[in-house]
Amino acid sequence: MSKKEETPKPKKEKQLEVKKTTTTTKAKDEVSKTAKPKKEPEDWIEEILPKQKKTQAKKPKTEDLSDVAVNQIPGIGPAVAEKLMSSGYLTLAAVAHASPIELAEHCEIGEQTAKRLISASRSQIGIGFKSAKELLKIRNKLVKISTGSEALDTLLAGGIETSSLTEFSGEFRTGKTQICFQLCVTTAMEKSLGGLESGVIYIDTEGTFRPERIVQICNRFNAPAEEVLSRINVGRAYNSDHQMVLVLESPKFIKEGNVKLMIIDSLTSHFRAEFTGRNSLLERQQKLNKFLHQLLRLAEVYDIAVVATNQVLSKPDVLYGETVFPIGGHIVAHSCTTRVFLRKGKGEKRIARVIDSPHIPEIETVFMIGQDGILDVGES
Ligand SMILES: Nc1ncnc2c1ncn2[C@@H]1O[C@H](COP(=O)(O)OP(=O)(O)OP(=O)(O)O)[C@@H](O)[C@H]1O
Ligand SMILES: [Mg+2]
Repeated sequence: MSKKEETPKPKKEKQLEVKKTTTTTKAKDEVSKTAKPKKEPEDWIEEILPKQKKTQAKKPKTEDLSDVAVNQIPGIGPAVAEKLMSSGYLTLAAVAHASPIELAEHCEIGEQTAKRLISASRSQIGIGFKSAKELLKIRNKLVKISTGSEALDTLLAGGIETSSLTEFSGEFRTGKTQICFQLCVTTAMEKSLGGLESGVIYIDTEGTFRPERIVQICNRFNAPAEEVLSRINVGRAYNSDHQMVLVLESPKFIKEGNVKLMIIDSLTSHFRAEFTGRNSLLERQQKLNKFLHQLLRLAEVYDIAVVATNQVLSKPDVLYGETVFPIGGHIVAHSCTTRVFLRKGKGEKRIARVIDSPHIPEIETVFMIGQDGILDVGES
């Protein structure tokens, strides 16, 4: 991630503001009428909220304002808006999904201000019930990212889904990192070749990201490797705190780089190395839980696919069935939307089994790892 990208770009944000002003109507008109930058950040919203509620009652919302920038929250002062944006809360949806304590802590604002910001954002985007029919429409529009193998895509009901957290776990050499490389290419390569032409954020906790593997996989699709590589932003995380900071900083890259995929390879390696022994287990699980919640929220708020790899733990005393289990226990099990367990087959063959998913049965399939990435059996 370059230094250029890390610094805020006031010019660009200004352009964004102008563009949004032309596309949305009511909420923006209210901003220009009611914004009083001299007011204290804690006071500004009291007088605005009742007016907002009245206008909402008259006209049902039809416009999706989730993606609107936070500086468009009615009446928000430039200083508070800047604090939110520099802490990674870029859109109304990001604020609406936050908790007051977390927003106050991350953005260094008062908890009361945080509460009011959240409430204003929620009333703008209308968080509440949706009919199942509406949800089906939304789900039908979800983007799926191909794994490179038709069999594996079929197992995953079309590929890796956006707005959700998918875990690939398995022993060493089962293909977890190779699947991540393949997903990078299918996300970043151009649409005419079957890709999404979108950005990727890759958080590498083990130092195993290899750009030359990306180039090899690009060759399979005749995809221009330079273009693909330039869309992949790699952050090397040196410890669990660093890993969490990289994720917190990611919203600005998600927006600027049109990111559709975030990879964490691997989810648990730092936590496992740093928190050893029974005494630190509780602390480890709490921290891991917080991290998983960050990931889930990013997936939902920015409609991206989050893919995490996970190592396994051996339990030799188990008499029947699997003797290895993904690390992280119930915390990881409950947080991941879809969990895929990988094991070795003969030669380059690997077996993938869905072990938990809200929409896929517990089935398995076979795929292969080759120079060209993730392949179907018999493909070369
Ligand atoms: N250039 C390549 N051509 C063909 N196969 C390769 C190539 N590079 C790696 N592989 C295959 O990928 C396997 C390693 O898979 P991968 O790196 O995904 O393991 P992993 O599941 O991430 O393991 P770990 O838990 O150690 O991180 C190798 O054993 C090899 O079979
Ligand atoms: Mg690996």
